[in-house]
Amino acid sequence: MHKDQLLLLLLLLLPRSFSIAIENNQCTTSCGEVANISFPFRLKGDPTVCGDPNYELACINNRTVLDLYSGKYYVRSIDYTNYTIWVADVGLQKGDCSSLPLRSLSCHSFWLHPNSYECGDYTFYGRELSKTVSIVNCSKAVASQFYIDTLSCLDGVKFSNFSSTRRRLYAMVDANVSYVETACTIELMAMIPGWVDGDDLRSYAQIHEQMVYGFELSWLPIVAEMHCKHRYWDIIGKHQIRCGPKSKNF
Ligand SMILES: *[C@@H]1O[C@H](CO)[C@@H](O)[C@H](O)[C@H]1NC(C)=O
Ligand SMILES: *[C@@H]1O[C@H](CO)[C@@H](O)[C@H](O)[C@H]1NC(C)=O
Ligand SMILES: *[C@@H]1O[C@H](CO)[C@@H](O)[C@H](O)[C@H]1NC(C)=O
Ligand SMILES: *[C@@H]1O[C@H](CO)[C@@H](O)[C@H](O)[C@H]1NC(C)=O
Ligand SMILES: *[C@@H]1O[C@H](CO)[C@@H](O)[C@H](O)[C@H]1NC(C)=O
Ligand SMILES: *[C@@H]1O[C@H](CO)[C@@H](O)[C@H](O)[C@H]1NC(C)=O
Repeated sequence: MHKDQLLLLLLLLLPRSFSIAIENNQCTTSCGEVANISFPFRLKGDPTVCGDPNYELACINNRTVLDLYSGKYYVRSIDYTNYTIWVADVGLQKGDCSSLPLRSLSCHSFWLHPNSYECGDYTFYGRELSKTVSIVNCSKAVASQFYIDTLSCLDGVKFSNFSSTRRRLYAMVDANVSYVETACTIELMAMIPGWVDGDDLRSYAQIHEQMVYGFELSWLPIVAEMHCKHRYWDIIGKHQIRCGPKSKNF
């Protein structure tokens, strides 16, 4: 490959370029537990200069909320050194394992409908950002360590009519779709932190705890976009992206 076609970059050097809007004191910088809201994020209602329109958050009842694919997620924290935002579905309630996410979400949603966030990427971070939990609906009991019974939590609660039809609901962590029994269909997907070891999750209550805890998304797309000045870019390794030679306008 040609030397000047490639630019190897250490993204951790980048945050300096984002101070543009931060000094504008018309920008709301905190909402509830999120004490550091700054570029590229901005709160709804703040001047446009405060952030990028693709990274708008809302402050509702003293909680920071991210709208994503018609779902709503509480923002737990934002990390500006590794470009990650920590979120959890608003439907999930701590201590109530019958509470479910309002919306099904997995990294597939991000791949099918690319948006302003990266999901589950491990090349850049050297580890997965999130794992997927699939809630499957099976027409028979499945005896397998990969199928974790949800009985004490989900039995007849939110999924109506399930007990009456003798179907059973299980949770699977990072399910390989080709392993899902033909007797089962995936009803709902949710995300948990990438650093959780699926083998440590023995009960649905434990899985639920991780769902409540939430998952990380990364806003690398805009960081790379700005750094590469609207050329194409690639993630090529831990904390490294590569800017392509071509402008996106062609
Ligand atoms: C908003 O949330 C913060 C942090 O959780 C808390 O310290 C503050 O008292 C809350 N304010 C109101 C008006 O509830
Ligand atoms: C908030 O983030 C900005 C941008 O990275 C940083 O300059 C600032 O020190 C952070 N402030 C706090 C309180 O973490
Ligand atoms: C980002 O930083 C936060 C706090 O420093 C840390 O908890 C989190 O694991 C980091 N995420 C990644 C992907 O490195
Ligand atoms: C499980 O699948 C059956 C058959 O497709 C369906 O009738 C039922 O509503 C599903 N149950 C849940 C809880 O989704
Ligand atoms: C449960 O099943 C019955 C009969 O199969 C149906 O009439 C009823 O609407 C179902 N309830 C819900 C909440 O889906
Ligand atoms: C999923 O399972 C199939 C069949 O066993 C296997 O060939 C494939 O490599 C697995 N995929 C992943 C991502 O583990």
